[in-house]
Amino acid sequence: MGKVYVFDHPLIQHKLTMIRDKETGTKEFRELTDEVATLMAFEITRDLPLEEVTVQTPVCDAKAKVLAGKKLGIVPILRAGIGMVDGVLKLIPAAKVGHVGLYRDPETLQPVEYYVKLPTDVEERDFIVVDPMLATGGSAVEAINSLKKRGAKNIKFMCLIAAPEGVEAIKEAHPDVDIYIAALDEKLNEKGYIVPGLGDAGDRLFGTK
Ligand code: PRP
Ligand code: URA
Repeated sequence: MGKVYVFDHPLIQHKLTMIRDKETGTKEFRELTDEVATLMAFEITRDLPLEEVTVQTPVCDAKAKVLAGKKLGIVPILRAGIGMVDGVLKLIPAAKVGHVGLYRDPETLQPVEYYVKLPTDVEERDFIVVDPMLATGGSAVEAINSLKKRGAKNIKFMCLIAAPEGVEAIKEAHPDVDIYIAALDEKLNEKGYIVPGLGDAGDRLFGTK
């Protein structure tokens, strides 16, 4: 069964509070989302494999560790996931970026896929799917389906805020996927918004509405 990690790091929690604040404007929202994505990427990469090399320091030869060169892919769920990509790339700049375009039908809350473009070597890469919000879980489950259908085997899901319903939906549909969350909120409201949440992530990130 996939694990669920809720990051309680003080910097993540502080910045997330500012992101939630309805007085936080688009520019600041974007900057904070980027910063939290970097901090989360630091934690999410904790298990990356290392290999030993010899490095010459000014003093002598030393045995030291470098990343073993695992191929990684970051996949934002459009639109709002885009806001987390650069933050992750700051720490793993060699990662390739795929895109899955999904929107949630406002009536049915069902995800509608409109775009998929992934790196050609999907089977060889480990993927981190990013989206600020995990609400009903429909979008995340569908995005992960899309990756698996194209050959991805090792997938992590990372978001800022999750509702319990969304976590359960991923666990049920994709028990192999670990979930990384900055905050686990209380519930969904009747419109499928996370409570207390942060509102509509795409609109706040891009200044629409
Ligand atoms: C938001 C969010 C997630 C989805 C979460 O996107 O960025 O992708 O809702 O909801 P779910 O867990 O119930 O599927 P939205 O559908 O609003 O599309 P947008 O990013 O294009 O605004
Ligand atoms: N999508 C959002 O952007 N916000 C929510 O609270 C739920 C889904």
